This record gives sequence, C-alpha cells and structure tokens, in this order.
Amino acid sequence: MNAKKFAGEKAVEYVKDGMTVGLGTGSTVYWSITKLGNLVKEGLNIKGVPTSKETEKLAKELGIPLVSMSSVDHLDVTIDGADEANPNFELIKGGGGALLREKMVASISKQFIVVIDESKFVNQLGAFPLPVEIVPFSWETTLKTINKLGCTPKLRIKTDSSPPFVSDNENYIADCYFENIENPAELNLQLNMIPGVVENGLFINMADTIVLGKTNGDVTVM
Ligand code: 5RP
Repeated sequence: MNAKKFAGEKAVEYVKDGMTVGLGTGSTVYWSITKLGNLVKEGLNIKGVPTSKETEKLAKELGIPLVSMSSVDHLDVTIDGADEANPNFELIKGGGGALLREKMVASISKQFIVVIDESKFVNQLGAFPLPVEIVPFSWETTLKTINKLGCTPKLRIKTDSSPPFVSDNENYIADCYFENIENPAELNLQLNMIPGVVENGLFINMADTIVLGKTNGDVTVM
C-alpha cells in the first residue's frame, strides 16, 4: 500500500476554498496536487504557487490556477514532502533538487504541512545526504569549504559520466554525507555563510504540521 499517497491525500483536508496554496515538489506531494486538481474540477477555488518547473507542469495539466510567488504577500498553506523529519520538526529537503524555491515558498506560508511516509521520520537527521544548492562558478572550491564542516560533499550528477544536475535556478547541487547532524540549526547557518552556497536543505523552525502515512493505511498528524 502506498504510504506516500495516504499522507499526500490527507493533507489536502487543510486546503479551503479561496486559499492560496504552495505546491511542493516530489512523489508524495504529487498525491496532494492530484487530489487538489480533482477538487478544482469539482469547483474548489484556489490559487497555487508551484515550487518547481516540474510541479508547475503537473498543476497546469491538472487545471489548477497558478500565480507567481511575487504576486502574493503570503500563502495560506503550503504542502510539501521531505527526505527526513525529526521530532523537533526539523527537516532535510532537496532530494528532488527544488530546495531553494521550496524554502522560499514555505517561508511566507502561514501553515507549512509536511507529507512523508513513516520511513522518513527519524530521531536524528543526517542519514540522508543533505542537498546544498551552490553556484556553478568554482564549485570545486565551494565543495572543499563545505567539506571542512565535517561531511563528504558530492556534486550531484544525473548518471555516471553525465554533466552536473542543474536546478531550476541554474545552480548545482552538492549532496553532503554527514551520517549524523548533531545540531541542524547551527549547521543551517554555517552552510549559508559559505560564499558560493545559495541555500541548503535544512528547514528549521518552518514545519507546522507533519502528516505521516503508513503502509497499512494509517495516517498520523503531528
Ligand atoms: C524536493 C524535495 C522533496 O520534497 C523530497 O525530496 C521528498 O520527495 P519524495 O516525496 O519524492 O520522497 O525536497 O526537492
């Protein structure tokens, strides 16, 4: 049974008529967006702000009206996935490479709802390599500086011997292998102080609600 689908669809209950909704990126929020598309066809009146080109394409196909982030002061609710979440509601995001727009959209959302399957709820962040968006200029230098924070950063490539993965913002992604992240809040600040780093995938003090789907069909809302 699809735990991601259960979580993604449950989160749609937070979306009410007239809301402006941040639309996250990935295979869990895909289910939220698909359900929203069906509700829009039935008359639900919402406006969406997509967090990636992939989500923009999906939302357009489903007939969800979209507006640009710059045209709104805030979003009523944003639904997005995560790669890891801990009991403090700190997250690792960016597995799909959309972390910068995702963080920007979440930052102006009144309610930020995270949809995950139970395998992603962990006591300590860091088993999942932390995605960090970096500028292409002298990316090797940026990786060396990131390495001094105690991780092994690897430039994201699509497949072996292919060119680097390029984000929607024309940047590269460094996947940083930490094993354990002792202090996510401190690391978030340290990473963003490095020249060449655009943004990192640690989301601190952002998530309001976690909707966790289980393979047996149970959904826990935290
Ligand atoms: C994309 C993300 C995704 O939300 C995260 O990678 C989770 O994806 P999925 O729901 O496919 O497991 O941060 O940048």
